[in-house]
Amino acid sequence: MKALILSGGRGTRLRPITHTSAKQLLPVANKPILFYGIEAVKEAGIKEVGIVVGETKPEIKKAVGTGKKWGINITYIEQEKPLGLAHAVKISQDFIRDDNFVMYLGDNLIKDGITSLVKEFEKTKPNAQILLARVPHPEQFGVVELKGKKVLRLVEKPKRPKSDLALVGVYMFDKNIFKAVNNIKPSWRNELEITDAIQYLIAHNFTVRPHIITGWWKDTGKLEDILEANRILLDDLKTHVKGKVDKESELFGKVRIDKGAEIRKSVIRGPVIIGENSRIVNSYIGPFTSVYFKVTIENSEIEHSIILENSKISDIRRIEDSLVGQNVEILKSKAKPSAYRIMVGDSSRVEVT
Ligand code: G1P
Repeated sequence: MKALILSGGRGTRLRPITHTSAKQLLPVANKPILFYGIEAVKEAGIKEVGIVVGETKPEIKKAVGTGKKWGINITYIEQEKPLGLAHAVKISQDFIRDDNFVMYLGDNLIKDGITSLVKEFEKTKPNAQILLARVPHPEQFGVVELKGKKVLRLVEKPKRPKSDLALVGVYMFDKNIFKAVNNIKPSWRNELEITDAIQYLIAHNFTVRPHIITGWWKDTGKLEDILEANRILLDDLKTHVKGKVDKESELFGKVRIDKGAEIRKSVIRGPVIIGENSRIVNSYIGPFTSVYFKVTIENSEIEHSIILENSKISDIRRIEDSLVGQNVEILKSKAKPSAYRIMVGDSSRVEVT
């Protein structure tokens, strides 16, 4: 069994953050989303992993490396253009050869991992196994119609969904999927859709086994999804304090303070992570906040937010429900006349009070 992790894609719904970095590398609970997928695959006992990369290849390669740190082998497969998930499978045929494989979308998070699902696939030996989850807005996903345990139809992002069962971004295939991806035609958005490839399998009497998952799953394509993922993962946090906390500070609940971090005259109410070499001074950090490394927060209050590396927040009354990118500065203006002075990137959103 091999794994194919898809990490191309431009992350347009997460601009401006994704103007400068790959969406799969955005950290939730201070760990890049992609690493959760790699760990899930490794947990399932898979050692040969292909990562399909696009224009953000250098960044992904730099963050992930050879796979040695997880004890797996990683092969990078270049997809010249984002021509669809089935196209990614098509160009990976030399890597997969005749093996069975798991295809894992690099921006998906499944809290319970995939180990039991891989076992189930290996035991029951269908030609494909798809994971489904009930969602409130199925029109944003691939949607599946079932009759009992039989898959009748799959449609990619239908305007009028026939069910509330969305395709989760984790699929298991045997080699017959290559017949499908080599025979389907591009969709209206000019992509080779994996939903069409699976539909092809059904039409040609291959077995496609559905599995409805009940645990937590998230496609982290949008800001609110990233914040929710952060909230869910921080809920499982274990307290550990490796950095310095002065006597005037108070920590409540589950709090992780990493090496080299410093907390002075502040209140931290968990679950919260403060990353390596970050400094929190005279501030309040509230539940469900992840502060990445080398961040400075002074005289400010922050809750339910993610702050990325090297950013500085100073003298801000309160920030909530926010994602602050790398190397950002948010400060109180002391210059006259009193005004907002901002340089925000394309497609940013700023709400002021
Ligand atoms: C892709 C698939 C879709 C699936 C979703 C899961 O959509 O095309 O069928 O439901 O992943 O994350 P995308 O997120 O690329 O729009």
